[in-house]
Amino acid sequence: MIKQTVFGTTKDGREVKEYTVENANGMSFSAIEFGAVITRIFVKDKNGELADVVLGFDSVQDYENDDTYLGAVVGRYANRIGNATFTLNGVEYQLDKNDNNNHLHGGYNGYEKRVWTSENFTEENGEGVKFMLVSEDGDQGYPGKLEIAVKYTLTNNNELIIEYTGMSDKDTICNLTNHSYFNLAGHDSGDVLNQLVWLNSDFITEADEASITTGKLVDVKGTPMDFTTETAIGDRIDADYYQIKFGAGYDHNWVIKSYEKGKMNLTATLRDKASGRKMEVYTDLPGVQVYSGNFLKARIPGKNQAKYTRRTGVCFETQYYPDSINKPEFPSPVLKAGEEYKTTTIYKFIVQLGLFGDDMENNNFFAMLSRMKYINRWGLMRNTIHENISEHSLDVAIIAHALATFSN
Ligand code: GAL
Repeated sequence: MIKQTVFGTTKDGREVKEYTVENANGMSFSAIEFGAVITRIFVKDKNGELADVVLGFDSVQDYENDDTYLGAVVGRYANRIGNATFTLNGVEYQLDKNDNNNHLHGGYNGYEKRVWTSENFTEENGEGVKFMLVSEDGDQGYPGKLEIAVKYTLTNNNELIIEYTGMSDKDTICNLTNHSYFNLAGHDSGDVLNQLVWLNSDFITEADEASITTGKLVDVKGTPMDFTTETAIGDRIDADYYQIKFGAGYDHNWVIKSYEKGKMNLTATLRDKASGRKMEVYTDLPGVQVYSGNFLKARIPGKNQAKYTRRTGVCFETQYYPDSINKPEFPSPVLKAGEEYKTTTIYKFIVQLGLFGDDMENNNFFAMLSRMKYINRWGLMRNTIHENISEHSLDVAIIAHALATFSN
């Protein structure tokens, strides 16, 4: 079901439409023409209660005044470009220095501040809205007239699929991402430090004090950057480690394992134990910036007057690596004239039914076993397991199930 309303008007008098799309499970998202911002994502918890799990504002003016990119699509080049300059085909381009000496998220006139055009659609795998933008030759200092579209599809599998497409009439660089801040306990529930993150990554791209990549990859093993096993965001966020200090917490690009251009990968998960909500992030891009909202300051009140203070949301910005145009050793963000830019990112939401979740968490297999005795139908159990526990725990659960069956 799709509903279209007027969200508000920009300060120069342009009307901004909002779309709300709901699937068969009662999950919904809303997005507006301003910045192609995702304003709301309502997801159920283990008791069937809905909460809005992204930070956002109630008015266009708040989005106009925001400098934290809440929910927006950022571009033409998401993340940083060192010294705000790059050379392409022998020509040097100068960009805005809007982050100290560097360029961030497209500069002072980012795509998050534009009014995009829109159309809604209903397709076989879901419904949604597509936002379109023309970025003229020379816009923000980049070469080439770039025409882009961002398509949000909500499926009945609780996936929000984001497809970015585009084409430029000259060689250029392009790196589009979504800057939603997630808080699976609800956008107004305080910090995300107890929420658990898992990342499909063994390396980060090392950053300097200004968050510019050095070109070096750092092995995460034995460091606070290691999320190869699920870990709470807050456990090591203030550790005495040079990368953490440079980023004032987590604000780094993780190198996605087994990246292959065009191939979708499970990249990250975020989980809130108390509510049972879990999110999986899939992308075909080589990197993901995990940003723990270190610079949020509640300067502007959020939806329903919520206070978005430091670390009350976490972003998973799927991307080409920061400053990759100046680092030939990194996957290239160059978009050739006339070639299609096409990348996909999926945020998928899962509800953990709470049957095994906490027991598995505490390694309390006896408690789990005694509950399992009452579940004889393998199909039900398999589904429940699939929804509730990680791949690693699946083996343990299967063995436990076998034991429970035999001990009957
Ligand atoms: C993130 C970036 C942070 C910060 C933030 C906006 O994408 O990694 O360093 O600039 O955007 O406040």
